[in-house]
Amino acid sequence: MSGFTPTGTTATEMPPLVRTPTPTDAGATVSAFPTPAVVTPELTGEIGPTGRPLPVFPEPQPLAVHGNARVIAMCNQKGGVGKTTTTINLGASLAEYGRKVLLVDFDPQGSLSVGLGLNPNEIETGTYQLLMDPGTTFDDVVVETGVEGMDLLPANIDLSAAEIQLVHEVGREQVLASKLAAVRDRYDVILIDCQPSLGLLTVNALTAAHGVIIPLECEYFALRGVALLKDTIDKVKSRLNPGLQIDGLLGTMFDGRTLHSREVMETLVKGWSDIVFHTVIRRTVKFSDSTVAGEPITTYAATSSGADQYRQLAREVAARWLDA
Ligand SMILES: Nc1ncnc2c1ncn2[C@@H]1O[C@H](COP(=O)(O)OP(=O)(O)OP(=O)(O)O)[C@@H](O)[C@H]1O
Ligand SMILES: [Mg+2]
Repeated sequence: MSGFTPTGTTATEMPPLVRTPTPTDAGATVSAFPTPAVVTPELTGEIGPTGRPLPVFPEPQPLAVHGNARVIAMCNQKGGVGKTTTTINLGASLAEYGRKVLLVDFDPQGSLSVGLGLNPNEIETGTYQLLMDPGTTFDDVVVETGVEGMDLLPANIDLSAAEIQLVHEVGREQVLASKLAAVRDRYDVILIDCQPSLGLLTVNALTAAHGVIIPLECEYFALRGVALLKDTIDKVKSRLNPGLQIDGLLGTMFDGRTLHSREVMETLVKGWSDIVFHTVIRRTVKFSDSTVAGEPITTYAATSSGADQYRQLAREVAARWLDA
């Protein structure tokens, strides 16, 4: 499995968009990414919501060929921080920009599947069967979503049994990695929506991933769990997946009118500098409304500011990891 190490800079600038291939993880054979490129970011002249100069994130160029997906785990053991919302809307935005996207529901709550309009009681083959039943193939499980270019591996409560059953498996941490390695050539990006825990399912997601995106609610207590999560990521990196890296910390449910939200962002940038995404997702009820409607905000309220923020996140992710 391959990963890329960004070159860090100070907190006040965008990191140079340099991508250096790191040694591949054993097991998965992947083709090389394009030659690393260096891009000096243009600035908008504005100070962004994170308190840093805001770069321009250009629209991703159309791709002539698809495949060699970057696998990203959406991870935070704290519940209700925007993991599922970010998985759906980052995925839908990248699909709008012509990327082939696979979303993986890796949470027995099945919120990702419900958020895309599926009825959990009607999911007969999901990620549980893909992991645990050797007779179930990827094509038995994958479904198209209402968004062109975006597929889904759905899940429901069945998946909770995998956490216990996997304990007895040989190579129990690598089961998801091996399933996804087989289909990476079909997609440009694979987003895994993790459950709010650091159990074996989440370790499987981290073992399968090149990068982790950590959504964080912009409130003080949100910062406290990040060190624990970083510990788990470091353990997985040293024992199972040397290429793993943190792609970014994403501030969600930001309210620019409150000093509190701004202070939380400031603390985050002080501690994590350029790992913090310039893009911040503001608080709006449109997200809950779009979940009820079973579609991404990018189609439910296509011209809303929430949709635009996720499109900007897609451009930021693409500029840093997918297109450089
Ligand atoms: N930017 C936002 N503004 C307002 N509400 C939001 C925002 N992002 C998400 N929400 C709402 O907050 C709730 C939790 O979001 P979400 O399900 O994405 O979190 P999660 O981290 O996946 O939760 P869990 O840990 O339970 O899986 C949902 O009702 C969602 O609609
Ligand atoms: Mg969720």
